Amino acid sequence: MSAFSLLKQISLFELLSDAQLASLVEAGSQRQFAAGQTIFNEHDPPDGMYVLLSGQVRVYLQDQEGCRVELNRLKPGDYFGEMALIDSSPRSASVAAISPCDCLIIDEHTFQDMLLNSQANTSYHILRLLTAKVRDNSYRILEEEALRHRMEIEQHRALSRIVVGVAHELNTPLGLMNTAAGVIAARLKADTLKPAMADPELTSIFDDILQAADILSGNARRASELVKAFKDVSASQVGGKLESVPLVKVVNDCVRLFEIQARQAGIAIQVKNHLAPPEAVWEGYPGALSQVLTNLLTNVERYAYTPETGGLVTIVLAASQRNDQPAYIITFRDYGKGILPDDLPHIFDPFFTTGRDQGGSGLGLTTVFNLVTVTLQGQIAVESPPGGGVAFTIAIPQTIASQDRRTGRANVL
Ligand SMILES: Nc1ncnc2c1ncn2[C@@H]1O[C@H](COP(=O)(O)OP(=O)(O)OP(=O)(O)O)[C@@H](O)[C@H]1O
Ligand SMILES: [Mg+2]
Repeated sequence: MSAFSLLKQISLFELLSDAQLASLVEAGSQRQFAAGQTIFNEHDPPDGMYVLLSGQVRVYLQDQEGCRVELNRLKPGDYFGEMALIDSSPRSASVAAISPCDCLIIDEHTFQDMLLNSQANTSYHILRLLTAKVRDNSYRILEEEALRHRMEIEQHRALSRIVVGVAHELNTPLGLMNTAAGVIAARLKADTLKPAMADPELTSIFDDILQAADILSGNARRASELVKAFKDVSASQVGGKLESVPLVKVVNDCVRLFEIQARQAGIAIQVKNHLAPPEAVWEGYPGALSQVLTNLLTNVERYAYTPETGGLVTIVLAASQRNDQPAYIITFRDYGKGILPDDLPHIFDPFFTTGRDQGGSGLGLTTVFNLVTVTLQGQIAVESPPGGGVAFTIAIPQTIASQDRRTGRANVL
């Protein structure tokens, strides 16, 4: 099919006269692409809008791991790169030929000439269709982004449930081990065994058994502590009641509790409150937020700074809107050694830690994530630009959703 006949079938051009269409085809340039050939790359400067005359193309983005994420496949009669006609910003996605294809490229000037020389209703029709397509694409990308985000959260919750489940199962055998070790120690110290203790050979055997019982109960205790940390990963384990309290008070109380540790580690903590009086009072779970902040502060102490240098932490409180509801944005920032780009996507995963030798289990930020997203019904994001420390941005509603008010607490996890 000729370029002219194909253009005639495209709704975008349906109000153009044959003469206008013919001059559009003449002014445009036709190019062929081999299968697999890149037509343009994300961030390339725009060179016009492409109408696919034959063949198939793939529109895609490159994710952080360098894998192609396909956004769309187009067939003859479809057009792409139309943003170039509306603004002159760089390409927002890449396009490559799936099979050999022919394209008609209409540059910005040709397009503008065509609009200027058309009747008002034709120009309006073209702009309306073009805008609708751009808006459709933006919605689709936003929806896909939201879906990916929901899947990440679900995966995270599934992992957390496993951790909590395992912890629950381990609790009983560990308790029994502890009791059994206690019984051994108590029986060996019983009066009836005193005469036997006089025998030096038996004494050394009893000492060994006592020591073994000691090691057993010591390790059972340590394992119980770990199990408790595993259980804390679940947001629903954190008690606390719904309270109306000034947000800055919750933050300041938490900072005060951390004061001694902060002094020893040379950490200065600045709280900047940008909340106006009407939005100052938060209706939420102060216990959960305190736990979030304590975990973040502990991490700064352990990872961001050395005690020799110390450093600054800023906690900024501001008001915002989230999903059309009044929200708080809490920005927690340090200026320390930062997180490696390879580690950054994993820091909320259960058991991810770079500090096992410093006593880290890798559960602190998992707990933080669950508390923010479940109990506090918010979102958390992290950034660590090279040399710029770490910044956590927490967005939470100013008032907890009514569904949770009835149960009085979060109901997931
Ligand atoms: N402020 C920070 N600066 C640099 N690295 C950090 C910071 N906060 C977290 N990290 C990194 O994120 C990882 C995960 O943190 P998380 O709190 O989940 O575990 P952890 O502190 O190692 O162990 P746990 O909290 O269970 O005691 C840490 O091991 C560290 O590599
Ligand atoms: Mg931690």
